[in-house]
Amino acid sequence: MTSLSRIEIVPLTTNIGAEIRGVAIGDAVDDPSIMATLEQAFADHLVLFFRDQRTLSPDEHVRFASYFGPIEEHGYTTTDPANPDVTVIDVTNPVGLGTDAWHSDSSGKETPALGAVLRAVQLPPVGGDTCWASMYAAYEALSPHMQRFVDQLTAEHDFARPLENAMRAGYQPPTTLAEVRAKNPPVQHPVARTHPVTGRKGIYVNGNYTTRICQLHEAESNDVLAILFNHIQRPEFQVRFRWETDSVAFWDNRCTQHYAVADYTGHRRVMRRVSIRGDRPH
Ligand code: SIN
Repeated sequence: MTSLSRIEIVPLTTNIGAEIRGVAIGDAVDDPSIMATLEQAFADHLVLFFRDQRTLSPDEHVRFASYFGPIEEHGYTTTDPANPDVTVIDVTNPVGLGTDAWHSDSSGKETPALGAVLRAVQLPPVGGDTCWASMYAAYEALSPHMQRFVDQLTAEHDFARPLENAMRAGYQPPTTLAEVRAKNPPVQHPVARTHPVTGRKGIYVNGNYTTRICQLHEAESNDVLAILFNHIQRPEFQVRFRWETDSVAFWDNRCTQHYAVADYTGHRRVMRRVSIRGDRPH
């Protein structure tokens, strides 16, 4: 455990995740030393968890996220009419919605989300945890030959693909699939991206958005993607977070993937998310 004045940073695993104690994130933005500590913790632990943020107002939620970059307009999720920067995830039938698959948010955009700040509002009696995995740890666990191989590759990502899958599972988006496709043509990103702050490399392909590796034949591409999608799921790379009402998670999409565990069918789970726009992956 690290203690920095009144802030405690409690790592939850070796590779990813820390609980931050002693911080009300609604007030933190006004204190440069707290924000510097949080930025360093974010770079070190990739996903930060804050318990008991019940005093956090919707405006403060947006303000905290805005500290790290402009707010991302997602494109097909439902937003809070009173505060359109906030996405509302209100689910009772989570299976097949796409959040129950390992992914990095909006990797199908040219400038995918840097990260997100997610708050739990209403939870099922049990279940509805979220898992995050370190893509640094996944990349670093590859053999040097495999690292050199993936370093040379780029992959295509299709932003509309998870929406199409979610609609098949019953999701009714506030816009049409055709509109989403027209606004978001497929994009190409490196298979291993370099984090702009830490300089570390992480795997940047995911089962939701990534459709093919550009330099390979289709069958080869499918096989290499299957190897990588399988590899990133090793428990050693992961942290699993058990939500409580008013818990907040703040994660970095540039070096993690996450998976919302879909084990609460028939119970309501309501989350409020503010996403932060990122830069083009390199
Ligand atoms: C997401 O995939 O962004 C949502 C995660 C969650 O609901 O736990």
